[in-house]
Amino acid sequence: MSQLSNQEVYDLIDSALEFKAGKKSVIGQNKFAINLFFENSTRTKSSFQVAEMKLGMNEIEFEAATSSTTKGESLYDTVKTEESIGASVAVIRHSQDKYYEDLVNNHDLKIHIINGGDGTGQHPSQSLLDLMTIYEHFGSFEGLKIGIIGDLSHSRVAHSNAEILTRLGAQMYFGGLDAWYTPEFAQMGPHMNVDDLCKEMDVVMLLRVQHERLSAEENKNFSKDDYFAKYGLNMDRVNLMKDDAMIMHPAPVNRGAEIGDDVVECCKSYIFPQMSNGVYMRMAMIEAVLEGDNSGNEITDKKRQ
Ligand code: CP
Repeated sequence: MSQLSNQEVYDLIDSALEFKAGKKSVIGQNKFAINLFFENSTRTKSSFQVAEMKLGMNEIEFEAATSSTTKGESLYDTVKTEESIGASVAVIRHSQDKYYEDLVNNHDLKIHIINGGDGTGQHPSQSLLDLMTIYEHFGSFEGLKIGIIGDLSHSRVAHSNAEILTRLGAQMYFGGLDAWYTPEFAQMGPHMNVDDLCKEMDVVMLLRVQHERLSAEENKNFSKDDYFAKYGLNMDRVNLMKDDAMIMHPAPVNRGAEIGDDVVECCKSYIFPQMSNGVYMRMAMIEAVLEGDNSGNEITDKKRQ
């Protein structure tokens, strides 16, 4: 997100909204995309796949478990291989924070890298689709009160959203376990109890507890029922929210932990609309990187002629 100016963020939102309104583009025709997911995904991977297809791209299949990374091939060699084979765009999700710095700073790759999520670092495509969904509802970010509740410290979505929403003029607030409210978040906004957050916020964003990133001890001491009672969004708390307030969640949701089963699809929830918007935002992102593109098979073949 730090690579994008505020104007570029608004341009991507406009472009995504145009795609949603029916704009067509075949900017990806005769080009190849590869989705290199080294961490599990349902939404991000599928919606990048759909976005690529809608732009006319072909997807090169890749499964980390059956790839040559299992034989010790590095991420750089994997990406360079796909570039050599003819891919123009690589969407990468990786457990290592800032995995992209080595690819971008230490090598002369022509393939476009889109971050599909790095460790506990950033999740820019999720952040941009969240921005699109908020903008669609409120028409502006200036002065909005946005509360993020949950496992802040492990959440790449929280990092990306808190930074960019602050930059766009929203006021950030946080809730959940004190231990997850790290100094990085403390400098962006206050920590509040969940009832007060629900009463005062324009947007309540929930995060799942990332058990895969907690220690064995932390997981042993975790009680889903206690967590839901203290920090979860139940219907009583939804009823405290303003009439036009939004409930958001990047998903996957853990029903009965951070959000009630009956809240996931309630009238204030934008969780599934966020996913639909994700396809349009990812089309806008891919179109933006392909504009003026000189990577991939098509161009290589022309150079040979
Ligand atoms: N929101 C999100 O990143 O979901 P996936 O892990 O399913 O891609």
